[in-house]
Amino acid sequence: MGGIFAVVSRKNENVVPQVISGLRKLRFKGFDSTGFALIEDGILNVYKEVGWVDIVVEKLGLSERKASIALGQTRYATHGRPTAENAHPFTDCRQRIAVAGDGSIGNYEKIKDQVLMSGHKLQSRSDFEPPAHLLEESLEREDNLLNALETLKEKLEGFYTVSVLDRDTASIAAYSSMTKLYVGVSPNAFYLTNTLTALHGFTDHYIIIDPSETVFVTSEGVNVYSKGHETTPRQVLTLEVDPALVDKGGFPHHMLREIYEAPLSLLRTLYTLQEKYLQLASRLILGADNIYIIANGTSLHAGMVASYYLSELVGVSPVVTSAAEFPLYYVENIGPGSLVVAISQSGETGDVLSSLYEAKIRGATILGLTNYIGSRLARLSNVYLPIAAGPELSVPATKTFTSTLLLLYLVSLAASKESGRIDSITYREKMESVKSVASRLSETMTRMDEEVKKAIIHARNCRGGYIVSRGITYPLALEAALKLKEASYFHAEGVEAGEFKHGPFVLVEKGFMTGFIIPVERLAAEATYPLILSAIEAGASTVVFSLEGDEKLSQIQTETVSLIRTPRAERHLAPIAYSIPLQLFAYRLGVDLGRPIDAPRYLTKAVLR
Ligand code: AGP
Repeated sequence: MGGIFAVVSRKNENVVPQVISGLRKLRFKGFDSTGFALIEDGILNVYKEVGWVDIVVEKLGLSERKASIALGQTRYATHGRPTAENAHPFTDCRQRIAVAGDGSIGNYEKIKDQVLMSGHKLQSRSDFEPPAHLLEESLEREDNLLNALETLKEKLEGFYTVSVLDRDTASIAAYSSMTKLYVGVSPNAFYLTNTLTALHGFTDHYIIIDPSETVFVTSEGVNVYSKGHETTPRQVLTLEVDPALVDKGGFPHHMLREIYEAPLSLLRTLYTLQEKYLQLASRLILGADNIYIIANGTSLHAGMVASYYLSELVGVSPVVTSAAEFPLYYVENIGPGSLVVAISQSGETGDVLSSLYEAKIRGATILGLTNYIGSRLARLSNVYLPIAAGPELSVPATKTFTSTLLLLYLVSLAASKESGRIDSITYREKMESVKSVASRLSETMTRMDEEVKKAIIHARNCRGGYIVSRGITYPLALEAALKLKEASYFHAEGVEAGEFKHGPFVLVEKGFMTGFIIPVERLAAEATYPLILSAIEAGASTVVFSLEGDEKLSQIQTETVSLIRTPRAERHLAPIAYSIPLQLFAYRLGVDLGRPIDAPRYLTKAVLR
């Protein structure tokens, strides 16, 4: 994944400083490495290194370089750790083209094998290097970059953007399989990027390139093609962006941007995960004598959901525990047959790492799940799987939670298939349904947000509250309560619905909030409706989170209740669907109460100790 920023001068002027400053606005797209492709005196040169833009510019002396056409990328590593070799751009064998990308190429393993079989040498483990060689092969057959890109579209699967700097035609070309691209237009230059707000400060005019269209930018102009044919000239739009929001991609907080990004992050997770690693993880799960899932905070809640996945899909019952508890109370049971599944979005959480040392000493195998594959967790793991949600800058974790849930679901599904519990057709169907959940979440995001904005009146004046649920959505109640504390400083507790009347109910009255997540199982849902009525009767302000189409709820609408509906999803994907409105609720309440959303007091993104 990464931020892309390319500039073509219309007046043969140096554009390197502009590429540098464009990339600086793309921190939230990736920051582990930075790379540049420049045409200098007719030669294509690539400069790339590990680190954020300013570090790389300084280290490689980029400020001294001059080029009238240049392509830059900031990387977030998903395939291949953050190293200079794995940084973008990548060149073909003839140094004619340089390729920089965003997203994930789903069939990377297959195309990698193809280009190696054809005799190309790969310098990296990135999924964007093989496409450079596929383009090279097409260009050798026919010197036509447009046709070469059309052929590439047919060969690549996944959710990705490819941008190319071509020395021979002095052009930048690009397309995206799923997102929009933007070309800024000014009298002096054209700017190509995958993030609209990055154009701020360069030009107020831009055009949109829709998914699957191909754009060519030269000093002469901008041409857009659809299925190989040139389209009619684009409408030039006016850029309106609040300068204060540029570094957050146009959103007031990283947390909100990251919640809105969740559907795309789910697709990224899906396409980044390679079949061979899924198989490896499945075998570890199926071959283990005992399984421990260890994590903290939000990652621990994801682990709790995973215990349902593994028990229902694979028939194994892992022990799920806080990484802070593991070394104190569980290590005695750990031996060479144990599998420790460690989940940490940062991959740097102190308790997780120290638990892993203890487990490794005792001979356990480690399966790590992390959003940062350059992290210590990845290095300590026997096998690691990338969460691949993209950089998460807000302290309250959101999109990494939904992507972690998905990753755990995919691993459980793969183990289910490997064990013969489900067949390949069911497996494929279930993988496909992930895409429809992601797209339904994207379609309904704004509607959910509007419902949430109205619902926060039920919390804003309350002294605290409960989030109640059961079964596979009970960990979501714990997670929502955590999010409310972090983002809103609102005291909330997650309560298991069956326990509601065994004590917690005593606090329910006017001035107290009760939030209910309707369970996905019919019987459990039916047992929840009377609890909602009891809470309303006791005078509580009530918010109900339900799946779309729950008709039962229309009967219990009063002015003390708000209803927030999330897309209906099959049982195992429902926790993902529910996460979005719950996160939005914590966010909107935090905004309403004036909290420092992205950086809550005392908290850090990775709790080292
Ligand atoms: C999540 O919103 C919190 N910031 C926190 O609970 C976090 O999940 C926990 O510290 C674990 O972090 P990790 O996933 O990076 O290990």
